[in-house]
Amino acid sequence: MNQFENTLSFAQLLDADDPLRSFREKFLFPTFHQKTVRYFTGNSLGLQPKAARTYIEEELDAWAKYGVEGHFMAKRPWFAYHENLTDKAAKIVGAMPVEVVVTHSLTTNLHLLMVSFYRPEGARTKILCEAKAFPSDQYALESQIKFHGLNVKENLVELSPREGEQLIRDEDVLDKIEELGDELALVMIGGVNYYTGQLFDMEAITNAGHKAGAIVGFDLAHAAGNINLKLHDWGVDFAAWCGYKYLNSSPGGVSGMFVHERHAYKPELPRFAGWWGYDKDTRFLMEPGFNPMKGAEGWQLSNAPVLGMAAHLASLDIFEEAGMDRIGAKRDLMTAFLEFVIDDISEKNKDRVSFELITPRDQTKRGAQLSIMAKGQGKALFDALANEGVVADWREPNVIRVAPAPLYNSFEDCFWFGQLLQKAIQ
Ligand SMILES: Cc1ncc(COP(=O)(O)O)c(C=O)c1O
Repeated sequence: MNQFENTLSFAQLLDADDPLRSFREKFLFPTFHQKTVRYFTGNSLGLQPKAARTYIEEELDAWAKYGVEGHFMAKRPWFAYHENLTDKAAKIVGAMPVEVVVTHSLTTNLHLLMVSFYRPEGARTKILCEAKAFPSDQYALESQIKFHGLNVKENLVELSPREGEQLIRDEDVLDKIEELGDELALVMIGGVNYYTGQLFDMEAITNAGHKAGAIVGFDLAHAAGNINLKLHDWGVDFAAWCGYKYLNSSPGGVSGMFVHERHAYKPELPRFAGWWGYDKDTRFLMEPGFNPMKGAEGWQLSNAPVLGMAAHLASLDIFEEAGMDRIGAKRDLMTAFLEFVIDDISEKNKDRVSFELITPRDQTKRGAQLSIMAKGQGKALFDALANEGVVADWREPNVIRVAPAPLYNSFEDCFWFGQLLQKAIQ
């Protein structure tokens, strides 16, 4: 149990002790507000690494200098640009390099992976997901089911929290998997739920899914760069994540894909193919008949979007320097401190407002996000916070999501969040 104090001096002590404190200097904080911006939206769009401009400018200069020859003559030749990202991204998600590729965008990657890994057959046709999955995932899952000529109502099983609860119990996920048994084709869940911030037990879900004979995949949009993932060891079949949330890699930036090694060398796996997934040694023979690359690279469709990847590389270099272990340690301490601050303000104002933290209080069941259900003042409170320079995130009907990002948020930011929350309540 941490013995925190909700004071500026205590927050400053925590900052002084923070081994990652200098990383804040590597990012650009928004300046659009007349007040100091307190940025808590790394779960939506991470801040710009200062180095992103340099990395992108290098490629713009190479384009100016070499034109098409930049594919081979640029400092980081464009034809293989994505390879600069692979090892670094693999470390972040706990994968072997052959299991990871950075390419396309998130929903595209989820579709490409489901085309290969959702193969309904006989009675095994159902997909299990969490209720209130991110809308893009819902649409992707529905359309995958329809793509196979199946009925969505019968085949999309959405698991909800129990009556009166906000979170889905891990045991309920495991029980549902067992219950669906040989009707279950695919488990596809958001590793961290975007709304509640709940972290699912991906290892247990994977084991249970496999025991039932199903494939298990995760949308890691809210987990990559946030949670200490071990996708390879957990045996996850596939996963995808975006680069723009905790991974700070530009709006709409490139996404990552994971395909477990056990599926890496199966050219017979059905897939939607494109030339960049073709064996790279013979790609330019331009012959008919698709011959996929080994591993996740075999799911690439198109040549590398170098400018977006340059932004991603700038951020992945920061992750490599900081290391996921230190990031995870700071995430837990800072989220716990923010939780303490929110509880303190909530307690002091209990006659006026009622906050319910819907994110798990157990830090092994969450990442760097706290979702506050603000009963009563709701949106007015959020707007008042925004007027004070707090950039957080509002989700209907009454949830404020606050994400302290370990790479650039400080304990002092968390303290000020509390002070501004107090002011907003008044
Ligand atoms: C959980 C989750 N899945 C999917 C998406 C869609 O991502 P994209 O627009 O990059 O395809 C998002 C975007 O925020 C998300 O949070």
